[in-house]
Amino acid sequence: MKLFTVSAALLLAALDLASATPAQPLARQAVVVTLEGAGPNPPSYTLTPSFDGSTFTIDNPLSVSHINVNTAEGICTFHGIDGANTTIISEGTEDVGPPQVQVSGRCCAFSCIGFPINCCG
Ligand SMILES: *[C@@H]1O[C@H](CO)[C@@H](O)[C@H](O)[C@H]1NC(C)=O
Repeated sequence: MKLFTVSAALLLAALDLASATPAQPLARQAVVVTLEGAGPNPPSYTLTPSFDGSTFTIDNPLSVSHINVNTAEGICTFHGIDGANTTIISEGTEDVGPPQVQVSGRCCAFSCIGFPINCCG
């Protein structure tokens, strides 16, 4: 009987987790993306994009050499003006090759990828 109770509680907890997932707001998470130029003391700018899979445009004219994502929230892809795509999975810094102005990006939270829906498309 005790075992049953524990199992039932775990099952209920699992169901609760599953049903709660889609309702969680995933749009605004505290993730900072830093886009950095070249040089020993490089200029940079930051973005705080939604991690909902929507494409955002970037209008900063800085030629970007490195892109850093500061937390392990999801996958971000950036598109450069000359066609380079830079993808950062989880967190870390990726080089833009060759360095170029960034025109758009898209971030998708890990919590958004897969079952029951892939809300990042
Ligand atoms: C970059 O991504 C775009 C859109 O997904 C694609 O059309 C293009 O071919 C990619 N460029 C490179 C160099 O892979």
